[in-house]
Amino acid sequence: MSISVIGSGYVGTTIAACFADIGHEVVNIDVDESIVDTINSGEAPIHEDALSELVREHTQETKRLEATTDYDSVLDTDVTFLCLPTPQNEDGSIDLSIMKTGAEQLGETLAEKQDWHTVIVKSTVIPRSTEDVITPVIEDAAGKTAGEEFGVGMNPEFLREGTAVHDFLDPDKVVLGADDERALTDMHDVFDPLVERTDAPVVETDTKTAEMIKYANNGFLAAKVSLINDIGNICKEFGIDAYEVADAMGLDDRIGEQFLRSGLGWGGSCFPKDTNAIIAAARNQNYDPAMLEAAVEVNDRQPERLLSLLDDHIEVSGKRVAVLGLAFKPGTDDVRNSRAIPVIEGLQERGATVAAYDPVATENMREQLPDIEYEDSAEATLTDASACLVCTDWDEFEVLDEEFDAMTQQIVVDGRRCIAPREGMTYEGLTW
Ligand code: UGA
Repeated sequence: MSISVIGSGYVGTTIAACFADIGHEVVNIDVDESIVDTINSGEAPIHEDALSELVREHTQETKRLEATTDYDSVLDTDVTFLCLPTPQNEDGSIDLSIMKTGAEQLGETLAEKQDWHTVIVKSTVIPRSTEDVITPVIEDAAGKTAGEEFGVGMNPEFLREGTAVHDFLDPDKVVLGADDERALTDMHDVFDPLVERTDAPVVETDTKTAEMIKYANNGFLAAKVSLINDIGNICKEFGIDAYEVADAMGLDDRIGEQFLRSGLGWGGSCFPKDTNAIIAAARNQNYDPAMLEAAVEVNDRQPERLLSLLDDHIEVSGKRVAVLGLAFKPGTDDVRNSRAIPVIEGLQERGATVAAYDPVATENMREQLPDIEYEDSAEATLTDASACLVCTDWDEFEVLDEEFDAMTQQIVVDGRRCIAPREGMTYEGLTW
């Protein structure tokens, strides 16, 4: 099949390269010329495991992938995926303005198309956005009627940063939301090569249910982490190891072992934005989503709990404090909503001199927080520090040992269960 993907962010670039990998002809459209040039030169514009290899292979060897700034490329394709950002407004609700602009531009292009075309919304959008907002924008701009001259579908993504390529190529499920039969048929044609080789279950539904499945998934997982953090905080008060408790809980099939790592909580570009957006949407329908609100509240508290454990051991004003880990989770350079941000801000409020290190996310954090010291290694960060806070569970922190000798005082407060306590170290775990 011939596919156009609008947007070259984390999701757009990943699915464009993966669609090429399963045999489709793909054109990836983005307004940013430097991103387009990067892709066409065979490089991934983002840091994502296994993505560079796919971009190189399919732009340089199979030639099934190319990038362009030209929307007219859509006209040579059968299906278009909309992968544009859906940021949040100040009140947490979804901001669809970029989606609307993209949909309008797509609609204007589709006005020229002679035959049927299917548009598939991939971005995370609150229920009814496809039906009530995006489809009418395309209809107006194209001068065409959905269901008659073009079709619309919604296909949520469940890709995790850091493992997005793997998650695409070996999915737990494929959700196909469509409001007309021809759109559904086109969506099957896109995903059949993947489904045939993986046996992934396919869920067929309408667009608003597909939209909700995405929020339900992320809301459930965010709430699961907040629940284990709530339980973990109680464990800490009783001197119990929350990880021992979680290991036993995870043996129950009804609970499962994943997303039971308690600690500093969730960040990133998805859980915080999506929980806020669905909470705002629910309130807009006059419903107060008490569980999701509590999940956000527990999450917001974890950084302050980490800092208060530090306060129990040392007054950090005027002292150097090491922060290990800046990315919102290991395996990515993304610092959006990283729990390290409120931790660093709390240290600054306490008058500490903050020295920070991350294997890959330093430059991204420097843009957000330029006023702290950034070091090139964990050892340099720990040198002369009076305390250390751990915010991301990178593998390389797990093997730190003699590096702690360079500290003036070996006080370590671990937010991610990642440091091996050693003799001479005062070690505090956030929930253990
Ligand atoms: C999340 C979902 O897992 C994906 O399925 C979804 O497609 C994506 O959002 C999205 O909406 O695009 P991601 O944000 O990449 O993916 O990160 P996760 O691996 O889910 O982790 C989210 C946060 O939860 C991280 O800060 C992580 O440290 C934290 N977490 C996760 C815990 O604190 N404990 C756990 O046990 C698991």
